[in-house]
Amino acid sequence: MAAPVTVGIDIGFSAIKVVVLSARSNPPKLLSLGHVASPQPGIISEADLDLEAVATAIKNLIAEVKSPSKEVAIALPESRIFTRVIYDLPYLTNDELSQAIPFAAEEFVPMPIKDVNLNYQIIFRSPQKGPNSRTVVFVVASPKSLVNKYLKVMQMADVKPIAVETELIAATRALVSANPYSPTTLILQLGATTTDYAIVSEGLILLTRSISTGGIALTRAIAQSFNFELVQAEEYKKVYGLLEDQLEGKLYQSIRPIMDVVINEARRIIQAHETQNKQRQVKRVVLTGGGAQLPGIVKYVADALGLEVQEADPWFGISTDPSLKSKLISEGPAYSVAVGLALRQEK
Ligand SMILES: Nc1ncnc2c1ncn2[C@@H]1O[C@H](COP(=O)(O)OP(=O)(O)OP(=O)(O)O)[C@@H](O)[C@H]1O
Ligand SMILES: [Mg+2]
Repeated sequence: MAAPVTVGIDIGFSAIKVVVLSARSNPPKLLSLGHVASPQPGIISEADLDLEAVATAIKNLIAEVKSPSKEVAIALPESRIFTRVIYDLPYLTNDELSQAIPFAAEEFVPMPIKDVNLNYQIIFRSPQKGPNSRTVVFVVASPKSLVNKYLKVMQMADVKPIAVETELIAATRALVSANPYSPTTLILQLGATTTDYAIVSEGLILLTRSISTGGIALTRAIAQSFNFELVQAEEYKKVYGLLEDQLEGKLYQSIRPIMDVVINEARRIIQAHETQNKQRQVKRVVLTGGGAQLPGIVKYVADALGLEVQEADPWFGISTDPSLKSKLISEGPAYSVAVGLALRQEK
């Protein structure tokens, strides 16, 4: 019998987020959610003691949100996996594809193919074989050592992973409609340690990237500029962010160079995408991850990229208790991955 609920767990560097949805209702209903600060160094460590600490945090969080199910979906960090859309394959049957993917993956996976798990999703396939027919696939290569570490932590936490996917696949499910009329979108995920990018069209990811500049880099820049402790810098970041007219623009100036790293990468990925897909120009940016709540960021990104920019609302399309509304809005973007993971099991 299928579990009556679905659970998504996002193990971030700064926080672990859990979302529990009712699997039986339509639209899906939010049953509970919660987050806890990640122990440090946390999941990036290879030491059993550190991983035990993560497992304990997950165990406590699952108990706190009163999840009736131990079956969970988890996500691998974008920065540690390799993805690519392969455009140059001829028409291939499913069997032929599964044989071709390992060879195609050699082009972009910087490690032996035997050491990664390969998954793929067909984006386009001509209806039949012919001289111009082709197959376009989105390939995800996850290092086996990474997958095994996450599975080990789940086992230590006494939960059962029934799905392992990538952060951006999960976030895309929560944030972008598969509707063919919805505009091609850049998802810009601002985490603590990384910023991740995905170009999404008709619900399908066409390009991803991850850079090792995130919210912590902003906090450090403020700490340095103002000679603050990190805790105080973090508070200032959350209050003043990119608001130019606050603190005589000093805080704004201190984090601008970091924001520009994020923006420049966005420009590069948009350009790379549009060279390959001229008919699918990026029309919209959705900001997600905890950093999407930086005051002034929507205007900053809109001005810098000249595109429509929105803050992510992963609760759109999910029925929620009205008393939770303001909490959900204020914490929304940080939950996108966990919501997307929980939505996955809806099927
Ligand atoms: N209101 C806010 N304004 C600015 N930044 C914020 C705000 N709230 C949270 N953040 C930042 O968001 C980051 C945490 O976001 P998130 O929970 O998405 O990260 P994570 O998933 O733990 O990290 P990662 O994805 O890098 O492993 C932190 O750097 C935090 O400072
Ligand atoms: Mg994250």
